[in-house]
Formats: sequence, structure tokens, C-alpha cells
Amino acid sequence: MADRRPVLFFDSGVGGLSVLGPTAALLPQAPLVYVADSAGFPYGTKTEAEIAARVPALLGRLAERYDPRLIVIACNTASTIALQHVRAALDLPIVGTVPAIKPAAEASRTRTIGVLGTAATVRQPYVDDLAARFAGDCTVLRHGSAALVELAEAKLAGQAIAPERITEELNGLFHQPGGERIDVIVNACTHFPLLEAEMRAAVGRAMSFVDGGPGIARRVAHLTQGQDWPAEPPPGRAVFTARDHRADALAPALARYGLRRIETL
Ligand code: DGL
Repeated sequence: MADRRPVLFFDSGVGGLSVLGPTAALLPQAPLVYVADSAGFPYGTKTEAEIAARVPALLGRLAERYDPRLIVIACNTASTIALQHVRAALDLPIVGTVPAIKPAAEASRTRTIGVLGTAATVRQPYVDDLAARFAGDCTVLRHGSAALVELAEAKLAGQAIAPERITEELNGLFHQPGGERIDVIVNACTHFPLLEAEMRAAVGRAMSFVDGGPGIARRVAHLTQGQDWPAEPPPGRAVFTARDHRADALAPALARYGLRRIETL
């Protein structure tokens, strides 16, 4: 009997699709469950205590319900705060998403990197540690943006995005002392790669963007190497933790990622 257990992706909203996309491309036979914690959205403005309490409990329920072979926490905020708690609570492989500061430091010529995440992520000691270990000779500037999270949700729901909203948020990095020297931006929130085209247009000069998506896809492929997959994977499921008025508007975007069944937890 083929192993039909899915790979489960978890985020507060649609951001984790930027992680699911590269993984699904690498493992086209993987059954997919994508969970958006719409009842808890957004995470970036919450306290550490709220996230550390909410995420492991919810993932415990989800693991029971969907019996995944592996869980990807496709959210930097949840990963930088709660990854260890989740690993301690669940007996299955958990892959987290952490700011891609290492590849950014490898790519930067000006030795000035911008880290764009949620307010909760950019203040984490985890980020200080990554910067010290992998970008010790770089200036690492950080900006926390809740607006970009909302703009990514709006874009996937089919709404038009005003370019000046993006420029305003990027200026949170560029207007810091030394900000004009940034040549690599770390998208340290999984929502932000969904706006990469808009960000490139707003920057208007050479800029590299890095995020964790491709590295996570390789990690999931490595951890599931040798496992059995169904010959015909079932349609992917998108699960919202609260009935969400945006679910209908998001349906076409979810379908582009192979998520054709929408349900509420
Ligand atoms: N997508 C999430 C992240 O990677 C958080 C967005 C939010 O809910 O604030 O940090």
C-alpha cells in the first residue's frame, strides 16, 4: 500500500505558499495539506508568549487530524519563537523557516544586508545569533513590517497593490543609516516572496532577494528520501482555522498551488 500521509505546511495566512511552491515542484507526488491559522492571524504583532502557547497546541491537533509524515512550519515568526517547543511536543520531523542570513552574507558585495520580517521576528535573539554566526563582517539592518503581510494577503485575494505602499515599507530599511548600501534583502517573512516582483519594481536598482523556500524544499526532499508516495497524489487541501471571509477570494490563488479543496478546522 502506498504511503498517503501528506506533508503539512503551516503559517498564519497565505505566506507559507512561498515555501509550499518550491517543495511541490521538487516533490510533485507529495500529498499536500496547507494550514492557514486564520483564527490567529496575524502573528507578527503578537507576543512571544502568545505564539509559544498557540503554535505547539494547534500543530498537535493538526498532526492528530491529518497524520502528516512531516510538518513544515512555513512561518519565520512561529519558527524563530516556537520551533523548539513544537519539536519537544511532537514525535515527527519538523522543518522550520528561519531568516536566510547565511546565503545573504555569501551574496552581498557591499557587506550590507537588509532583513525584512515581522516585528516579532526581527527582534528575536535567534536573528542576532544568525547575524553573529554568518554575517559577522556585515552590517545587518532590520525592519519589521505588518503592512507587507496584509499586502501579500490582498494580492493573493486578487486585489491591486499600490506601488507606493511597497516603497514606504522598503524605506523602513533604506532610510536607516547605511541603508543605501544594502544590496541583498532577506525576505524573513514567508509572505514577502509573494511580493517580490512588486518589491523589485519599487527598489529600482540592482538588488538580490533571498528567502528560505528553496532550501526548505531540499531539506524536505532529503528527509523523505526513500519514502513511498502515491502514484496519483490526491488534490491538495487548504485548511483555515476559522471560517474566513477571504477563503473564496483566495480560492483561485490556492488552486494555482494545487490546493483545490478548502476546509475549516
Ligand atoms: N508569514 C509569517 C512569517 O513568516 C507571519 C505573518 C504574520 O502573521 O504576521 O513570519
